[in-house]
Amino acid sequence: MKQTNNEPLISLQRNINGGDFQSAGDISSEIKKILQQTGFPPNFTRRVVIAAYEAEMNVVIHAYRGVFSVDIYPDRVHIVVDDEGPGIPDLELAFQEGYSTAPPHIREMGFGAGYGLSNMKKCSDQLNIETQVGKGTKVIMDFFLKNKA
Ligand SMILES: Nc1ncnc2c1ncn2[C@@H]1O[C@H](COP(=O)(O)OP(=O)(O)OP(=O)(O)O)[C@@H](O)[C@H]1O
Ligand SMILES: [Mg+2]
Repeated sequence: MKQTNNEPLISLQRNINGGDFQSAGDISSEIKKILQQTGFPPNFTRRVVIAAYEAEMNVVIHAYRGVFSVDIYPDRVHIVVDDEGPGIPDLELAFQEGYSTAPPHIREMGFGAGYGLSNMKKCSDQLNIETQVGKGTKVIMDFFLKNKA
């Protein structure tokens, strides 16, 4: 079988529903299992899964619905999380650690510390956010497996 780095080993697409705390985190768990089974190093898997979890939770907490897409290549992982939601009016402010618009009932569940976006930035090799107020937010992240054995 032809296998180049331009073809994903695995591609997944999953829907996320805003406010659905029952299923929250399922996509990140699925990605974790796949990366572990595929044999990616634990450190690489850890940073992909942390960033994936934060992006997934941001749709659950802040948006109405979204689509989570992941492409897993032999040497990289590409994630796109595209949501319909309120958008982010001030991205620079949103990236500040400790800044959160999460309401009290969300904070009671342990979310809304305001560290998600900065975690995504730290854990990914490339992060791009396209957002339109009143429409939604698209998060694009890339993770590169360096020092491949
Ligand atoms: N997908 C999104 N749609 C709309 N607003 C968002 C989205 N993601 C983040 N935000 C805004 O950016 C702020 C900061 O996001 P961040 O993930 O850093 O913190 P948080 O989600 O509030 O808390 P934590 O991630 O620590 O649980 C959010 O409070 C929210 O106002
Ligand atoms: Mg968050």
